[in-house]
This record gives sequence, structure tokens and C-alpha cells, in this order.
Amino acid sequence: MQARMTLHIDFSIGKTDRRLFGSFIEHLGRAVYTGIYEPEHPTADNNGFRNDVADLVKELDVSVVRYPGGNFVSGYNWEDGVGPTTQRPTRLDLAWGTKESNRFGTNEFVQWAKKVNTDVMMAVNLGTRGADDARNFVEYCNFPGGSYWSDLRHSHGYSDPHNIKLWCLGNEMDGPWQICKRTADEYGRVAAEAAKVMKWTDPSIELVACGSSFFRMPSFGDWEATVLDHLYDLTDYISLHIYFANKENDTPNFLARSLEMDRFIKITTGICDLVKAKKGSKKTVNLSFDEWNVWYHSNDADTKIEKWTEAPPLLEDIYNMEDALVAGCMLITLLKNADRVKIACLAQLVNVIAPIMTEKNGKAWRQTIFYPFMDVSRYGRGTVLLCPITVDRYDSAEYSDVPYLEAVAVHEETNEITIFAVNRNLKETINLEAEIAGFGITELIEHKVLCNKDKHAFNSVREEKVRPINQHGAKLEGTAALMQLKASLPPASWNVLRFK
Ligand code: AHR
Repeated sequence: MQARMTLHIDFSIGKTDRRLFGSFIEHLGRAVYTGIYEPEHPTADNNGFRNDVADLVKELDVSVVRYPGGNFVSGYNWEDGVGPTTQRPTRLDLAWGTKESNRFGTNEFVQWAKKVNTDVMMAVNLGTRGADDARNFVEYCNFPGGSYWSDLRHSHGYSDPHNIKLWCLGNEMDGPWQICKRTADEYGRVAAEAAKVMKWTDPSIELVACGSSFFRMPSFGDWEATVLDHLYDLTDYISLHIYFANKENDTPNFLARSLEMDRFIKITTGICDLVKAKKGSKKTVNLSFDEWNVWYHSNDADTKIEKWTEAPPLLEDIYNMEDALVAGCMLITLLKNADRVKIACLAQLVNVIAPIMTEKNGKAWRQTIFYPFMDVSRYGRGTVLLCPITVDRYDSAEYSDVPYLEAVAVHEETNEITIFAVNRNLKETINLEAEIAGFGITELIEHKVLCNKDKHAFNSVREEKVRPINQHGAKLEGTAALMQLKASLPPASWNVLRFK
């Protein structure tokens, strides 16, 4: 199969925001306990953080991490997780039916984020709680000192403010599964008042309002319009969440699901701009895609987990080759929408629907989805190019006109260019021809490929069956002003082609 692609220096979508390469740690399952935090582990540092896990997080170069939830946050008292650990209460977490010891909390998370060079995206509880706790929490974290909550932080050993710049106004507040779900009007009002007092406490912060929990939510659209009507002037972003599954074992349809993510982004952008127009506002509300991933492998196992245990193995999806392709298509979709999607979080980071898995008291290892995320996080920062592609298309059970090639290119500030590409064709190689004009590139650095003949191949602590290999044979010819690339993209593969 043939495909053509054009990259021209004058045609771009926009610059990526640093926070597009984020992830998520929730107090859920083994994400925190025996994930990032395990004081008894042989690699643990003085704070109890696992160094083997921290090294893998650094390999991913995660730019921001959302915390502490997720559904968990809608029942969370942040005060439970600060101060002397021996005095912290054990609570029932109604979101996941587990026990939370609170041995790990806000200050520990901020310390851990520093260790792995990432920013913090903090969420406040707008389920069981409201504006008062939210503003106190901002004061505790960000106010320098000389007030009740900031002095409490001092007394806990943190004299410097944490300066957390990005805050979520609750989580998935439209979902019946949420602790204290709200109607759009109820949420809009409480979120607007919380936003107001949070920004009065620290005017430098940015806020993310809850959009619909997912695209197929019956209230999608109306929810966004109503919520934004309440807080257009107060919020900076609206959130989107999406998880994909392949329960039908229909791979062509599964690989096409990123088209739905693209539609979700386009429609949400339209709603933001509609409210902007209605209000005659000059301000633009952008998008925070703060939960995205594949999630379904662990659904059955989760029904068998004993309730009210601490850190049980919940949501431990083991990802396979085709999941990595879907993750790759989702990453490309985020890049293609970089003009409006400013924040994105792969949900989640460790053990819970995660690129990194751990054994308690044992090893840490990389899942298949680790690799596309790492590639995009390392080489996808810069100006995203508008790349017209000509390739055959197919229809699947739920989607029509699906291009066999999903691809995008990013021009990095180092003057390197990277093409990210997924070949959705399960049987045929795509012979890609690309024109690369105006960048002055002269050299192909590498062509890395992630593929496996078995689309269900997966990694484990013992064996890495799905890992990138260097592919030889790509050719770059022409002059620095206009280069012609010829490369073969194997069936069902994730490709990274880098030029300088
Ligand atoms: O990431 C797992 C869960 O998915 C989150 O807690 C929730 O926000 C979403 O439904």
C-alpha cells in the first residue's frame, strides 16, 4: 500500500504546550502504595519513594502529573494526608471500595514530583466538599506564610510554598458513579464559587473545570454549555476523558477509535467557542484531556477483589501490541489538536491502567504503551506540522473513512523533525513517500519501529516481547530545501522517523 505525506515549514497547527505530555497518579489500587511509594523496597530512598519506578518515570519525561484523583478525590479530605503520619486517619474510600491509610499525601506527592522532574496538577474535592476546603487547600499549598493554613504547612516542615499552578475543579461530576454527583447547574455554581475564592487566594493559578465524563455520555454537549455558562470567565480549561476497549476483538474497529477522540475534541472546542461568542468574551477556554488510555483488560478481575482492603491490585490492565497502536493513534490525535489541547494526562502512570508496572518488593517493568508515550514525550515537543496525507481508507463496524495511515510530524526547537506514524493495515506494509520542504534537514537520524506479528503479544516482568527495534532501509534524498523520504512501515506498527 502506498501513502504520500507533505511537510512544509510554512504550514503548522501550533506549538505544543509543555503539559501535553502528562500523566496521572490516583489513590487507587497500587498506584501509590507499592507503586511510587514503598518504604520497605530495596530501591526506596529516604522518603520511601521507589528509585526503580522514579527512573522509569524519568525515562518517560512526564511533564505534569494529576493527583490525587480521579473518583477518589470526590470523597477526599486533603487535611487527612498532611502532618505527622502516625496521626493520620484510615478512611473508607467509597469510590473504589478500599481503605486509605493516608500515609502518603500532598506534601509527599509534591516531594515525589520534584524527584521525577514533573509539575503537579492538583484536584480539589467538589463532591462531598466545596469552596471553603478548596480555598483552604490553595492557601495551605501556595500561600507563603503568616496565615492559619500556610503556617500549618510550615509546622509540617515545608516552609517554602509548593506553588502549584494547575488545579482541577473536581472530577467527572456528571457521573452517577461519582461520590456526590451533581447536575450541570449545581456543579457550575459550586465550581464557579470555588474557582473565585481559589483565585482570590492565589491569582496566579490556572483552573480546569469538569467536562463530561466521556464522549458517549448522554448529557455531553449540554453539560459543557451549562457549566461554561456558569464559569467561562473563571476557568482556563475544560476537561475531557476517554478510555477505549476492544471487548469484541475487532482490531480494525479498535484501531479506528482515535477518530472518536478527535471528534470529541473538535466538538468540545466548538462548544467553548460558542459560549465565548454568546458572552462576547475575548478569552479562549482551552482543553485539558486529563484522562486518556485503553482500559478494559482488568474489568472482570476487578469484580473479584475483596472490599475494604488496602492497595489491592485494581485496574491492572496488561497491555498488548494493539493497545500500543491505539495509544500511538491517541498521542497523534493529541498532537494534531495541539492548538486547543494544552494539557493531557495518560491515565494512569504506575500499576493502575499504566505504562509502568511493579512487583511488591520486586521489579518494575515497561508495558507496551510505555514506548509510544516515551517517543512522543521525548520528540514531540515543538511546532506540530499540518501534514496532508494521501492513503487508502476503510470502513469498520463503528467508523467510516478510516485512513490506514495515522501520522503527524513535529518540528522541534533543536531543528530536528520527527514523524510519528501508525500503520493501521494489519496485513500490508505502507510504502510512505514524504516531501519535506523548507527545514534544511539533511539526515535521517533513525527509524524506530514497534511491532509484533502477534497483536496480542504483551510484556511481563520476565520478558519484553514488545519493544522498539531500529528499522533500516529508509532513504532521504534531495537538497536541504526539498527532501524526499521513502520508508516502509510494517503492518500494524508504530513508527518514529527522526531527521536533523
Ligand atoms: O482512571 C480511572 C478512573 O477513570 C478515574 O478515577 C475516573 O476519573 C475515571 O472514571
